[in-house]
Amino acid sequence: MTTMFWILWFFIAFVVVLVAFTLRKESEDMPRRDILRAVESTGKMGVAERSFLWVFSWLDTRFRLQDYWNMSKGAYYNMHRQMPLTHAEKYKLRIIWYWYPLYCLGGISFLSFIILVITGTVLGIYYVPGGEGDPAPAYASMQYIMTELPFGYILRAVHHWATHFMVASVFLHMCRVYFTGAYRNPRELNWLIGVALMALTIVFGYSGYLLPWDSLAYGAAVIGINLANSSPLVGKYVATLLFGGSSLTPRTVTRMYFIHVFILPVIVTTLIIIHLFIVWVQGIAEPH
Ligand code: HEM
Repeated sequence: MTTMFWILWFFIAFVVVLVAFTLRKESEDMPRRDILRAVESTGKMGVAERSFLWVFSWLDTRFRLQDYWNMSKGAYYNMHRQMPLTHAEKYKLRIIWYWYPLYCLGGISFLSFIILVITGTVLGIYYVPGGEGDPAPAYASMQYIMTELPFGYILRAVHHWATHFMVASVFLHMCRVYFTGAYRNPRELNWLIGVALMALTIVFGYSGYLLPWDSLAYGAAVIGINLANSSPLVGKYVATLLFGGSSLTPRTVTRMYFIHVFILPVIVTTLIIIHLFIVWVQGIAEPH
């Protein structure tokens, strides 16, 4: 209560100082004086125009509206200078080729990823990453989300279906890039980043699949750890790194959780930013 009291008073004091600072007397050298003098000297303006200029100059001297407006206009034009013409614009085509909607698949992958991050963040508030006990806390928290949490089952369903959309659209996007020959010079590096993104998207899906720690997840975990263990020479280490041991333990689900909510999001977000930055710099390839 006392904390709230002090926060409130600090906030009021802050607002008072801010208002006092804003309304302080203007000095003679402020550009607003010049604007107002110019307004006065024309003498032909109506009340509406004068009032508008008065308000605008008042705001402009305080918030540098014109400077920021010009800066953003400059940034906008610079950005668009780099945007190449589309195939349809370049060849003045009147029709949209049937494959053009397929150029949306990268965007759909990105949108699915954003939806996954948002729904996943909310699910993470209620999910408990523990494998110890019967039922395991992970399983019990998933049941709580499904049966008791308001809208919980919808949240989980959206996360589930956005995953399916992402895996499908990333794969189809890769097919589009391949069949239009867009992987060629100078876009080889973006193709390789894309290959990493494809693999990481699948690992993302797999690690999430294990989190409910139900029999389906357990079955998938058995297959995964057997695969990891059978890697030549380093099998035991790979299994320990990914599954928290060379056989399944309650630690496995905690390890998967960490991979799913920290390691993969950091890597995938970074790669997507680089991927999209390269697309922005290089533009979209002409279909060959
Ligand atoms: C998380 C996954 C991915 C996202 C969010 C993503 C996003 C995008 C976006 C928005 C574009 C712009 C053009 C378009 O949408 O078609 C693009 C282009 C491109 N992507 Fe992806 N992508 C992903 C995965 C991949 C994969 C798996 C590959 C290939 C292995 C790939 C290779 C490329 C290449 C080479 C381009 C340039 C295409 C061109 O210039 O026509 N991307 N990506």
